[in-house]
Amino acid sequence: MQALELLHNRVSSPKLVAPAPNEQQLEAMYQAAARAPDHANLRPWRLLVLEGEQLNKLGQIFAEVSLAKNPALNEAQLQKIASKPLRAPMVIAVVGCITEHPKVPEIEQLITAGCAAHALTQAAFAQGFGAMWRSGGMMFDADVHHKMKLAENEKLVGFLYLGSAAKFRSAPEANSADFVSHAQL
Ligand SMILES: Cc1cc2nc3c(=O)[nH]c(=O)nc-3n(C[C@H](O)[C@H](O)[C@H](O)COP(=O)(O)O)c2cc1C
Repeated sequence: MQALELLHNRVSSPKLVAPAPNEQQLEAMYQAAARAPDHANLRPWRLLVLEGEQLNKLGQIFAEVSLAKNPALNEAQLQKIASKPLRAPMVIAVVGCITEHPKVPEIEQLITAGCAAHALTQAAFAQGFGAMWRSGGMMFDADVHHKMKLAENEKLVGFLYLGSAAKFRSAPEANSADFVSHAQL
């Protein structure tokens, strides 16, 4: 796929099934992530790959944390929460790793982590795979972070759901006049 064709046509895929990218295809995605722009080369992110039983465990974490916050949740509601990570055969959790730096504030480090996440989705799409970047309340929950063994200085930037899509929708057209103007300072 040509670079501009990819950039103009990438779409998210909410419905994903096996197969997920294989090791070689994942490596191509990791290399794309590693080219995210990165002030002072801090590499302020890391990736946690979840498949199979690990997706079940993540779902259990979501259910446990939800129940602790809302003990009124019934079994069906908990099942629904626990099944969220099973919407794809693979999830990559993108973790922002924030360090103190005199020139690179936290927001820049999180932007870099976001760029890495987007590069992963683009490299997945370039290889014919579907991806969907998801957050949800669980992503911002400190108890979820703790149960996922994130360090104190780490935050989740996204859950990238990955797999094969039956078909890709066409990218909607964008009118650049809606978001571009020439500065008149
Ligand atoms: C940080 C971030 C978090 C997101 N979280 C969700 C989410 O939890 N649920 C959802 O349906 N879409 C979420 N999205 C949006 C989708 O990933 C996707 O971009 C959107 O559905 C538009 O589809 P498109 O990428 O094909 O334009 C999120 C996007 C970003 C950048």
